[in-house]
Amino acid sequence: MAVKLIDRFGRVHDYLRISVTDRCNLRCVYCMPEEGMEFEPDESILSFDEIVSVVRVLARLGVSKLRLTGGEPLVRKNLEQLVARLSEIPGIADIALTTNGIHLAPRAERLRAAGITRVNISLDSLRADRFALVTRGGDIRKVLAGLAESVRVGFDPIKLNVVLMKGINDDEIGDFLQQTIERSLTVRFIEYMPIGHNDDGWRSRYLPLSAVLERCEAMGWSVEQAESVYGNGPSRNYRIRGAKGSFGLIHPVSDHFCETCNRLRLTADGNIKPCLYWTDEFNVRKAIGDDEAIERLFCRALDVKPENHEMAQALLQAKQSHTPTSRRMSQI
Ligand code: GTP
Ligand code: 5AD
Ligand code: SF4
Repeated sequence: MAVKLIDRFGRVHDYLRISVTDRCNLRCVYCMPEEGMEFEPDESILSFDEIVSVVRVLARLGVSKLRLTGGEPLVRKNLEQLVARLSEIPGIADIALTTNGIHLAPRAERLRAAGITRVNISLDSLRADRFALVTRGGDIRKVLAGLAESVRVGFDPIKLNVVLMKGINDDEIGDFLQQTIERSLTVRFIEYMPIGHNDDGWRSRYLPLSAVLERCEAMGWSVEQAESVYGNGPSRNYRIRGAKGSFGLIHPVSDHFCETCNRLRLTADGNIKPCLYWTDEFNVRKAIGDDEAIERLFCRALDVKPENHEMAQALLQAKQSHTPTSRRMSQI
């Protein structure tokens, strides 16, 4: 199939991240303000029919990989039905899920049957009390049950996302790494991003990921580069010698994988976002029903996709406290 989603810099786009809701059943400290957020009204959220029609067009243009995100995707009712419909679209080879895991245990089997092949689970602490603090009330037992079910039903790979925060979970780096030694999991440490909010303690909590490799050294663990774990956009991968699993470092701020970025995003309210960090968005809703119009809109989005997010680095240096996107991660 001729791939048509190529931008000005020659990057081929075969991966669409679909946010199916901006709602979430948690309020992680780095993602949402304490008082919660105003969510989009139901009527502005794309319906399953609308999402399916967009994906049909994109699949013809070469998109083969989908990732369902949120907010928390599992708060969207009947998500399994959407997954089943997406997995029937010719050209779609892979559908992944990024979830906080709270609702995962009872649904893992149905999601697997519907067509989800792999999951990324957010888990910032292995300790119940801390997990509750970071998520403002989340019950870690539910997430651990979701993880266990994910192993049982055969999602592969399973990745844990750990946002590293100074003074909050940096003393657990060793515990997370120990998990990779014992289990066939990938733990990805993510640099705390100043995305869409005004500081919120970001500057005082930010910790460079070099802390992870320093921890390995302190433990006397020898580290080797790991082969890429399927999926693998932003992560650099390593393995502690002899470990069953691996770990990854995701540097969305201080490093970038922009040169090879193959991603497009569709927000829950139907905006095409060509880059996580950028403000330009194109609402696809009005185009639905006209496949050529959908195609044109995605091409326009690619035309303005920035080459990289150098500005994010400039921001670190200039000590500004937020990125040019006004959306938070949960809204993207
Ligand atoms: P796979 O590599 O397919 O497993 O997934 P992923 O890592 O892209 O997805 P996930 O939803 O688990 O995102 C994990 C982290 O990757 C996020 O918290 C971001 O820090 C980072 N990330 C995801 N998408 C982008 C992107 O487009 N640009 C940048 N710079 N970082 C991203
Ligand atoms: N910085 C880093 N990671 C974040 N996430 C959400 N907000 C931020 C932030 N400000 C992470 C979540 C989830 C992933 C999709 O994005 O923890 O694992
Ligand atoms: Fe919800 Fe994920 Fe944001 Fe936490 S990081 S509040 S789980 S959307």
